Amino acid sequence: MRNILPAAMLLALAASAPAAHAAPVRLCGFPHSASEAIDSQVARAVFQRAGLDYARVDLGDAIGRRGASAAVVDKLLQSRCDVFIGVPVSQHFSKLKPESVVVTPYLDAAFVKFHAAGARVSDAGRSTVAVAYKSPAQLIAAQERDTEFDVLNNTDAVIGAVAQGKDAYGIAWYPSLVAYEQQHPQTHFISTPTHTSLSQWQLSFITSTRQAALARRIATAVHGLEQDGTLPHLTAPWSLHADSLREMPSAAAMAQPAVFHPGEAGMLVRTADDAASGATAEFSQEQVGPGAKAYAADCARCHGANLEGRTGPTLRGSGFAPSSGSTMTIGGIYQYMTTNMPADQPGMLKPQVYADIMAYLLHENGYKPSGKALDPAHAGDDQKPFNSYVK
Ligand code: HEC
Repeated sequence: MRNILPAAMLLALAASAPAAHAAPVRLCGFPHSASEAIDSQVARAVFQRAGLDYARVDLGDAIGRRGASAAVVDKLLQSRCDVFIGVPVSQHFSKLKPESVVVTPYLDAAFVKFHAAGARVSDAGRSTVAVAYKSPAQLIAAQERDTEFDVLNNTDAVIGAVAQGKDAYGIAWYPSLVAYEQQHPQTHFISTPTHTSLSQWQLSFITSTRQAALARRIATAVHGLEQDGTLPHLTAPWSLHADSLREMPSAAAMAQPAVFHPGEAGMLVRTADDAASGATAEFSQEQVGPGAKAYAADCARCHGANLEGRTGPTLRGSGFAPSSGSTMTIGGIYQYMTTNMPADQPGMLKPQVYADIMAYLLHENGYKPSGKALDPAHAGDDQKPFNSYVK
């Protein structure tokens, strides 16, 4: 009961604010997002509850089919948009500076493993798992053991391959599946949650901290719609059933918002967290020299002589991994690297060489050697986060 008064007061304040003369709130979103249908319903309900007029901004070419980088979103929030809707946020991956935005989640949107109900799967695809290239699904999949992957261009291709029985399973963002089912009423997928730290996202409003009052009104409206059951009712078709969502971090835990764009990419982008002290990882000092040599021969042409990035991303410092709370595991990076790198000849190196390169990567990111040599047979199992302890 004690909570009711402050909430009611906030609502009263919101209602008495001078909305009538204010310009409509400029609402932006991702034009090709799978969650567009639910995002616009939520927008309508939230702005109505908040007593605010809003106008959807047509971003034209500012956002492409594959989404926009967090930097673009940040920039738009300083120019053409007051608030973004439909932004998938997790606690971990971001280039949006956490101090520059307020995040208000309204829907849990996880990555799930799925198969088509009653599908006849071709022999070739009997056990394969389809994932979209460069999506969170790809790294979630990399943490599965003993699985064969079919890496496809985009989420549409992944869902199509599973619907048509070319692949038995897929890993995809749940809203993408819902959108597909709504367009193909004869298709039904059975989904189970995936369980990596990359699996959980929340669709959110993102507001610049310079618009704190607006952010507060949106948050109050979302809260009110949650309390009276409107929001749960609205979002029910887009929500995984309740028991799969127990591990969701609460909205309050979203201290370090992270974003991927509802197109495809983004998950390989992350930002520096607060500094943390270095850590020890399993490798020996003796591996570092040979690792550096192999890196120079096979990786440097794309990732730079000093890991600074060229055509491939940087593999060192905050541009690669945060200084704490990374969701990439050491084993996950190892598996990603051994199955995908060198990008032009994946998997061409000897296991021992990959292990040495991993030792070099750990060393260059500030890890101290445990002294026990990194064994390629187990390197993929290390569940500890890969943080970077260097600038
Ligand atoms: C021909 C260019 C090329 C070569 C050679 C290459 N890479 Fe890459 N690497 C890339 C590209 C491009 C990406 C980004 C791929 C993506 O986003 O899906 C990447 C991504 C990575 C990542 C993931 C980065 C992240 O931010 O998550 C790691 C780790 C990596 N490479 C390691 C290596 C190692 C180790 C080697 C040498 C054995 C190597 N790469 C060789 C082009 C290359």
